[in-house]
Amino acid sequence: MHALRTGHIPSTLSDLRPDIVGIDTPVPLLDGSERPYIFLDNAASTPSFNTVLRCIQDFLPWYSGVHRGTGFKSLLSTAAFDGAHEAVLRFVNADPSTNTCVFTKNTTECVNKVANRWGFRPDDVVITSVMEHHSNDLPWRKHAEVIHVGITREGHLDLTALRAALRRHAGRVKLVAVSGASNITGLCFPIHDIARWAHEVGARIFVDAAQLAPHRAIDLLPDGDPGHLDFLSFSAHKMYAPFGTGALVGPTAFFEQGAPDAVGGGVVDVVTLENAVWNHPPHKEEAGSPNVIGGVALAAAIAVLQRVGMDAIAAHEHELLEYAYERLRTLNGVVCYGPVENLAEKVGVVTLNVEGVHHALTAAILSLEGGIGVRNGCFCAHPYVKQLLGVSADDDRRLTAEVLSGNKSNMPGMVRASFGCYSTKDDVDALVDMLGRIVKKEYRGTYVQNRASGAFAAEGFSPRYSRYFAFADLMAPSVHHGASEAS
Ligand code: ALA
Repeated sequence: MHALRTGHIPSTLSDLRPDIVGIDTPVPLLDGSERPYIFLDNAASTPSFNTVLRCIQDFLPWYSGVHRGTGFKSLLSTAAFDGAHEAVLRFVNADPSTNTCVFTKNTTECVNKVANRWGFRPDDVVITSVMEHHSNDLPWRKHAEVIHVGITREGHLDLTALRAALRRHAGRVKLVAVSGASNITGLCFPIHDIARWAHEVGARIFVDAAQLAPHRAIDLLPDGDPGHLDFLSFSAHKMYAPFGTGALVGPTAFFEQGAPDAVGGGVVDVVTLENAVWNHPPHKEEAGSPNVIGGVALAAAIAVLQRVGMDAIAAHEHELLEYAYERLRTLNGVVCYGPVENLAEKVGVVTLNVEGVHHALTAAILSLEGGIGVRNGCFCAHPYVKQLLGVSADDDRRLTAEVLSGNKSNMPGMVRASFGCYSTKDDVDALVDMLGRIVKKEYRGTYVQNRASGAFAAEGFSPRYSRYFAFADLMAPSVHHGASEAS
């Protein structure tokens, strides 16, 4: 019997939490006890849906290489993999007759692919913002002059400055590359307005939707509509299918022209010793044997999200966000970054610091005394974080020199708690209660900072990871013995 046929498939919000793999997994605390992990680092990566795992389990007996084999399993796997591409196009309402979905390994690879494939000329300009994840900034810098639009006092994208930059560089600006939502503040960008403004000056838009796709319905809008999104990318590991797939959607015509950025098997129709004739997209852009399991997993996760409904998920996460700020307002000594009111255009991300406590120490205490997983630091968006923190140019230079000398102990940063569709008010309560204890210095451990990494460790806490998970169990006895000794 197929696992999918025997198990429950989520169709309402309340079905989602029980569908999370490892939702009740106990983790060790500093005092020697264990408690179920509170997962508030969904912006970094989400756990998997059980339904996704069961779908993979159903698929694996049929798994085979795609697009090359003639055996039944190869044909079936090809149909499943092609179907996964189509599911992504439907998820973002892209016209499949003019748009292609290319599978990569993550959003970073998607951005790099478009940057590598564009064919920028020396005078070309890409407009992006200081709010971007480095992935939606550094790839463009390799190929074009990049203009970074700034932020308002509240941390929003400065739309007036964006429009001015578009006017100033009209003719030279080929692309506007912005996030769908910030991984730091959760603020959503008005992507369709930005698309209109970009199109008015003959540019196109690329949307890094890594932080948007798990939280909101996305509509590319029809090709030719002024608000149409030309390129969009997201990652399955942030959408309850952490099996190594990223999705890039863009015009088929864009991928038809020129040579692919990575070449090898699968990207060609004909090869002679002198020449290669490229295959059609998406095959042309997916060099080598692709990650079929990852594609199927992403399609399964999309199916779950769509059954429950992206609007229901957005409403739930909005309620959590309102609740989180309502509770955080009661804590003196906690500073929040970005808007804390009018939260409609913000996905479930809360960034903060406890006054007088290093961000890495707060994160360590949350983990070791509360069993709460968050992230701290600059979150691969250094310019935005430093601006929100008000780090001066002089301090930035001094801190950079310190880091280069091997000392990260004063690296500026924040603590980020990020919600998923399965998060609850109990998760928020656990976070706020622990923050309250940190504010009052009621934590128990003695924490020591590592200069090289900037991270804090608690004295007396050295868990044996192999107690929870280890490859060692699979290894031959002699290898196993060595691995145990090393642990
Ligand atoms: N981009 C991910 C984050 O913001 C990893 O945490």
